[in-house]
Amino acid sequence: MRRRIAAGNWKMNMGLEASAELARKVKDFTGSNARSVDIVVCPTFLSLADVAEELEGSGIAVGAQDCYHGSQGAFTGEVNPELIKDAGGAYCIVGHSERRTLMQEADKEVNLKAKALIGAGIVPIICVGETLAERQALDTMNVVRGQVMRAYAGIAPEDAAGTVIAYEPVWAIGTGLNATADDAEAVCKAIRDVIRYIYDGPTADSVRILYGGSVKADNISGLMSEKDIDGALVGGASLKAAEFGKIVQAIAGKCSDEA
Ligand code: PGA
Repeated sequence: MRRRIAAGNWKMNMGLEASAELARKVKDFTGSNARSVDIVVCPTFLSLADVAEELEGSGIAVGAQDCYHGSQGAFTGEVNPELIKDAGGAYCIVGHSERRTLMQEADKEVNLKAKALIGAGIVPIICVGETLAERQALDTMNVVRGQVMRAYAGIAPEDAAGTVIAYEPVWAIGTGLNATADDAEAVCKAIRDVIRYIYDGPTADSVRILYGGSVKADNISGLMSEKDIDGALVGGASLKAAEFGKIVQAIAGKCSDEA
């Protein structure tokens, strides 16, 4: 059985003090679930080391929101996987739609970043998802399948098995709109089928697939009742510890129900 993940993407929010404070609260609200579900919070690079220190020993992991694929050297302004690891990061989001749209990040870079993270022993959370125009043009499956194929180019099966994919329809991020559980499941299942096509059954069965896009305490349960959804990548609602705590509880609940 795949271990579920509840990941919070804090985006470009909060300074050092507020991040440490939120980390403490997340520990209070979710700590007891850390045994049954992987809990990850992704603060800004600046706060990552402090948040990691705050959460040490809690079972809650820390992740970055992006990275650069190069080895240490002359890459002004960038942060590579080794540095993230050194600061206490165990996960890293790559290819988030905000980066794809605002920073023109392309599939090629997503692929390079994923490979660099795997090389450093950090779990990449690879984001894919269609825009509203693509959904309306009935192009969702093509777009998402293409993003997955290109993200995994040249990644070995044994490495792919430990990665995480977040299906985040662009139109659902930060908008309050979210995919119905059935729609989200259809895409997550298609993603798992692509992994099976590229690799094999065991790899497809190991990769964890999250849904993201306006996940809240009151819509998570429906999503978690779906077979191919292994957790959630949560933006806005992860900034409120009590709300995030309820989401983690619902994700963990699925585990104990099935155990
Ligand atoms: P949201 O963001 O939950 O605020 O929609 C999700 C994400 O961008 O990862």
